[in-house]
Amino acid sequence: MDTVELILSVPDVDQEWLIGLLSDSATGFVQEADTLRAYVPAEAWSPADREALSARLHAAGYPDALTVRAIADTNWNTTWEADLAPVRAGPFLLCTTAATVPPEHADATVLRIDPQMSFGTGHHATTRLALRLLADAVTPGDHVIDVGTGTGVLAIAACRRGAASVEAVDTSPRATANARENVSRNEGADCVTVRDGSLDAVPSGRADLVVANITRAPLLSLLPALRDRLRPDAPLILSGLLQTDADRMREALAEQDLLVRDTQTEDGWWAVRAAPAPR
Ligand SMILES: C[S@@+](CC[C@H](N)C(=O)[O-])C[C@H]1O[C@@H](n2cnc3c(N)ncnc32)[C@H](O)[C@@H]1O
Repeated sequence: MDTVELILSVPDVDQEWLIGLLSDSATGFVQEADTLRAYVPAEAWSPADREALSARLHAAGYPDALTVRAIADTNWNTTWEADLAPVRAGPFLLCTTAATVPPEHADATVLRIDPQMSFGTGHHATTRLALRLLADAVTPGDHVIDVGTGTGVLAIAACRRGAASVEAVDTSPRATANARENVSRNEGADCVTVRDGSLDAVPSGRADLVVANITRAPLLSLLPALRDRLRPDAPLILSGLLQTDADRMREALAEQDLLVRDTQTEDGWWAVRAAPAPR
C-alpha cells in the first residue's frame, strides 16, 4: 500500500506544532534541521488535507514549505534502515535489528525496533519521555496496559523491566502487525499480547501500570476509562502532550482524582506520571 511523504521545509523550532497537528494521521516522522518529513498512509490523505495544511503553513509564514510525494513501502523500509541511528532513553537503547550497539551503551537494555510504518523508534521526544517515566514505574510481576502501542516499544520495554504481562493495543492494523513483529524480534518480550483496537479491546480487569502515548484529544476522552483500569496506587503514564497542554491535562487528572507524581519535558513535549489519590 502506498504512503504519502510530506516534506515540510521548516526549521526545527517550528516542527513540534506540525508534529502535533499531523500526529493523528501520520504514522512516522523524521526530523532534520530544516526539514520535517511526515509519513501518512495514502488512504488517509486527500486534496482537502493538503489544502488545509498549506493554509496553516501559509498562516505561519511558510507559503511554499510543502512538497508531497507518493512512496512505496519498500522505499520506506530502506529509508528507515538507513536513517535510524541508535537512540538512548533512560536505561534503554533503541536500535534496528541491523544496528550494532555502540560500546558506550554496553550497559543499556537493548530494544530492537524495526518500525516499518509505525510510530515508536525513540526518535521522537514523546517516546523517550514515556520510556524514562516507565523505567522507574514498572515493578517485576506487574500487569501492564499500553494504549497506542505503535511499534510496541513501550510494551517491550515494560516486559524487559520484569512485567509479567503487557496488553498492547492500537487502532491501526499496520501498527499492531509491526508491534507483533517487534515483539518476536526481542528476546524476553513474550509477555506482550498485541490486540487490534483501543482500551476496550483489553480483557476486563485492572492493571498495575497503564501507559498511553497518543495525543491530547484521545487522551482526554480516554482518561475516565484509563482511570477505571488502575489498581489502587497504580501509575498512569501519559505522553504525546505538548507543554502547552499541561494545564488542561492537570485539570483533567484532578477531575479523575489522579495525583501528579512526576513530569518530564523535552523539546516542548510534556509527559506525566499520575496515580489514584488514596481513599
Ligand atoms: C504517538 S504513537 C505512540 C507509539 C508508541 N507507543 C510510542 O510511545 O512511541 C500513537 C499510536 O496510538 C495509536 N492510536 C491513536 N489513537 C488511539 C486510540 N484511541 N486507541 C488506541 N490507539 C490509538 C496510533 O495508531 C499510533 O500508533
